[in-house]
Amino acid sequence: MPSYEKFAQVYDKMGSDDFSIKMFKYSQRILTGLRYRPKSVLDLACGTGTAAVMWAKKNIETFGIDGSAHMLETAKRKARAEKVSLTLSKQPLTAFSLPKQVDLVSCYFDSLNYLLNINDLTAAFRSARRVLHDDGYFIFDVNTPEAMKTLWDNQTYADENEDLAWIWKNVYFPRAKQAEVQATFFVRQGKVWERFDETHAERGYGPREVKSALKSAGFKTVNIYDCLTFKKPNRKTVRIAVVAKKES
Ligand SMILES: C[S@@+](CC[C@H](N)C(=O)[O-])C[C@H]1O[C@@H](n2cnc3c(N)ncnc32)[C@H](O)[C@@H]1O
Repeated sequence: MPSYEKFAQVYDKMGSDDFSIKMFKYSQRILTGLRYRPKSVLDLACGTGTAAVMWAKKNIETFGIDGSAHMLETAKRKARAEKVSLTLSKQPLTAFSLPKQVDLVSCYFDSLNYLLNINDLTAAFRSARRVLHDDGYFIFDVNTPEAMKTLWDNQTYADENEDLAWIWKNVYFPRAKQAEVQATFFVRQGKVWERFDETHAERGYGPREVKSALKSAGFKTVNIYDCLTFKKPNRKTVRIAVVAKKES
């Protein structure tokens, strides 16, 4: 996987960890509404471990899976610094397993959008079903094709601070519902700036496609929201939050 290599060093410094903090808090509200208290969680595509550390701090047995050794290395350091225990492993989203089943799978911040076709998305859902206890829940977010069209097409985003600057150039391919990002980073290393580049590709998924893939993987869709709210998604929704339950 060519992305999330050097990016792992600056991911949190860029504030990219903010979204999973929001999703973690939002998931707490969803779980309270369901009256469900997980004792074990898998944070899928855990990245730098932000949400995984938060789950573990609640005395929940926490597993983290990601495809990037670099992101997992940062997650390991963060868990050590926060004095929590995480069981981390490098596995692909399309075929993963755990030594035991868990009560909840969480997966935040576009991670499932990195699966560029519905077969891979369904394969990820099947793996999630396998690692869940009967009646366990799966909470995740995905960008919709509307996000790709309005936020990603021909848009350039840039920002900088004292030690870091980045430029994201996006293009959208509507037929494939896919967007590509050329990301350029400049990181201060003493008196010089190091440049590195990464390409990221994401595919947008709408509520109907997600619901049907969940069904074929053996999940019941409990709710689909306009992400971070409790409202129904509409045509303008750029990100959905999905709550699914394993059907036994
Ligand atoms: C946008 S980051 C989100 C990370 C974390 N969930 C967060 O909220 O900060 C996407 C993560 O998905 C992982 N990822 C993308 N495609 C993957 C794949 N096919 N298999 C495993 N991990 C993958 C990346 O390594 C990265 O850590």
